[in-house]
Amino acid sequence: AEEAERCVGVVGAGYVGLTTAACLAHLGHRVRCADIDESKVDRLNRGEVPISEPGLPELVAGGLASGRLRFTTSAAGLRDTDVVFVCVPTPMGERGEADLRALEAVLRELGELLSPGTVLVLKSTVPVGTTARVPALTGRDDLPAVSNPEFLREGFAVRDFLEPDRIVLGGDRGLDRVESLYSALGAPVVRTDPASAELGKYACNAFLALKLSYANELAELCEQVGADVRHVTTTMGMDDRIGPAFLRPGPGWGGSCLPKDVAALRRSARDRGMRFGLLQAAEHTNTGQHERVVRKVQELLTGSPYGSPAGARIGLLGLTFKAGTDDLRDSPALAIAARLAERGAVLTGYDPAVPAAKGGAVADVHVVDDPLLVAKDAAALVVLTEWPEFRELDWAQLAELADRPAVVDTRNLLDADDLARHGFSCRGIGIPT
Ligand code: UGA
Repeated sequence: AEEAERCVGVVGAGYVGLTTAACLAHLGHRVRCADIDESKVDRLNRGEVPISEPGLPELVAGGLASGRLRFTTSAAGLRDTDVVFVCVPTPMGERGEADLRALEAVLRELGELLSPGTVLVLKSTVPVGTTARVPALTGRDDLPAVSNPEFLREGFAVRDFLEPDRIVLGGDRGLDRVESLYSALGAPVVRTDPASAELGKYACNAFLALKLSYANELAELCEQVGADVRHVTTTMGMDDRIGPAFLRPGPGWGGSCLPKDVAALRRSARDRGMRFGLLQAAEHTNTGQHERVVRKVQELLTGSPYGSPAGARIGLLGLTFKAGTDDLRDSPALAIAARLAERGAVLTGYDPAVPAAKGGAVADVHVVDDPLLVAKDAAALVVLTEWPEFRELDWAQLAELADRPAVVDTRNLLDADDLARHGFSCRGIGIPT
């Protein structure tokens, strides 16, 4: 209860900032969350949450009802806070580097209004050395800076915030104050210097990408030698030193974080004269994976009257970069769609999180809101996102509607035997056919 009256500021109401603000309010803190988008702030103050994150609308509503959570467009609303979390986007710049313009603008503004001693917490993913530049960027040396990277997965942001594997704090002043905000979570805390905290975040995302590229290469080899990648990765995952997560092969890793963070880490290594070839290899494998999926589609069409994707209607099931999100940013589904379109395919797509009205056309794909429309007259179907409901589709009806009952299942989601009963030929990734 003695913690209950702290006033905390959050800058940015994107998925990291909004989750942080709502969860801190849920933990009993008084939170002011600022965003420059006026209409977003209005909607949030009415309890309308613009992103789809399980549990978040409830936490926002609870925070508004208790008065512990308020949204504002003016950074001046953060004047009387004693800790401010900076959660603004750091997108990929032209050379793979993190674009820090939004962050720098926020820090300049905060430098003009925060009271002495306010702790500035950088939650945005920032290159090593950024936290150390806070005094220069704010023009103040009386604002302790702490690096506190986030590890929130889209679709699990609230859960990951409230049940974190660890909390990382990098800095030399103000750490106790930040740590106390999280004390109710009972999570292990790593206290370190800012550079190690910043690098720790990149190291995690890049390692996850390496693991996935490894699984995708293995899957390819499995196909060559007639092994089943599911059994191979089960064997690996049962080794405590490896762990079972992030070993499912797929259409390639995407989303707004992994590709950007791998590129940024590689850029920082290169800027210091280091090659870090593993990262380059992981990226190379990832673009190769898009091409491998296209090749699988091509193989399915060879020997059919189509012969190639040119002029063939191809139906895509799933467009988002993973299930459980409506996010299309850096989605491997769209990268693969672009490659198929280049070869002349006519693409129709269905995704439970992408309404046809909103999508209309997403890049090269005509978006519809019924999977049956995707199957209609299709020369092949491609499953690109692991939405569980795709298993429950009426595959008998899809087989009837399709011109040729053929599926490439890039997520190994479907039961191939079941599909075979409906006349489908089904190719997974890394599974013997
Ligand atoms: C990722 C990290 O998992 C979070 O810990 C991190 O906080 C976040 O980035 C971030 O930096 O903000 P997210 O972008 O939501 O989270 O996506 P993931 O769940 O990590 O999935 C990344 C990609 O890997 C997706 O395309 C997914 O389909 C793919 N994937 C994942 C596989 O292909 N196979 C798997 O076994 C797991």
